[in-house]
Amino acid sequence: MSLPSQVRLIDVGPRDGLQNEKQPVPAAVKIELVHRLQAAGLKEIEVTSYVSPKWVPQMADNHEVMAGMNRQTGVRYSVLTPNLKGYEAAVADRPDEIVVFGAASEAFTQKNINCSIAESIERFAPVVQAALAAGIAVRGAMSCTVGCPYEGEIAPERVGYLAGLMKGIGVQRVDVADTIGVGTPKKVQAAIEATLAHFGIDHISGHFHDTYGQALSNTYAALQMGVWNFQSSVAGLGGCPYAKGATGNVATEDVVYLLQGLGIDTGIDLDQLVDAGAYISEQLGRPSGSRVARALMAKRSS
Ligand code: HMG
Ligand code: MG
Repeated sequence: MSLPSQVRLIDVGPRDGLQNEKQPVPAAVKIELVHRLQAAGLKEIEVTSYVSPKWVPQMADNHEVMAGMNRQTGVRYSVLTPNLKGYEAAVADRPDEIVVFGAASEAFTQKNINCSIAESIERFAPVVQAALAAGIAVRGAMSCTVGCPYEGEIAPERVGYLAGLMKGIGVQRVDVADTIGVGTPKKVQAAIEATLAHFGIDHISGHFHDTYGQALSNTYAALQMGVWNFQSSVAGLGGCPYAKGATGNVATEDVVYLLQGLGIDTGIDLDQLVDAGAYISEQLGRPSGSRVARALMAKRSS
């Protein structure tokens, strides 16, 4: 079984990582984090979301963050847009890619975006159409592809069903997300397999939260299937406000270390990435959630 020779990482730290922080994180800190991530070699960064500031207050500074960044050529900046209102607000800030976000679970869809799966697709369709017409790339996030905090285990058929709906409205690539980090390799592979009925391997990414400590194993399981796009969060920041108890995404540092060990190229400088993680952890006043970063920092200081 051959693994991909290259992997593309999307750091979702500024968005998924920070959206759940209780204390407001200043826009200047988010901007500095984006700058440090791109300096470390990240070629894709999920910067912010255009959602209701009443639902997710931490992302209310979306315009400020997008306007304040120094964009680097060759870096793709993506943002979440749940509906046309969000899209219209986002488009003024010139994202390279917008993300519509649905879930394989009805209950999570209701809690997260206040509508049914069918209604979510109706809302996404005009967003996707408008983005494609404007030359903006479109990604679809699929939450709860193995488990849901409200419905429990999710069957792969439901993932396939959602992937088919996303494909039907013109979404170009999708994220198979384990929102609450309950997945184990075979279950994650089944969710990816179901997605493969609608999207090619180049258009599927893995988005694994690390709540149960399975995210690296799940990453490896996805690599074995040929998946070469992954989302991760520097310092393992994050969680979803509508998935209580779920911790952050797998730490980007941990994924880069794994990939380096496998001889897989990411174009990322691990030392600079560790510095970026140290910066945001210091701003948040807590240790990094990345075990690799903690180990490397301990080594540096010894
Ligand atoms: P709603 O209440 O159903 O929307 O919310 P509405 O159309 O009835 O409007 C209600 C109010 O929201 C109105 O304001 C609208 O103007 C406003 P009011 O009159 O009360 O002052 N509104 C908006 N404001 C700003 N931006 C918008 C927008 N739309 C309406 N786009 C809505 C629907 C989706 C907006 C709401 O449910 C929401 O904001 N939810 C938050 C969803 C979210 O951000 N979740 C976290 C991200 S998803 C995630 O983390 C999972 C992921 O990482 C993958 C994984 O791990 O699973 C991607
Ligand atoms: Mg997430």
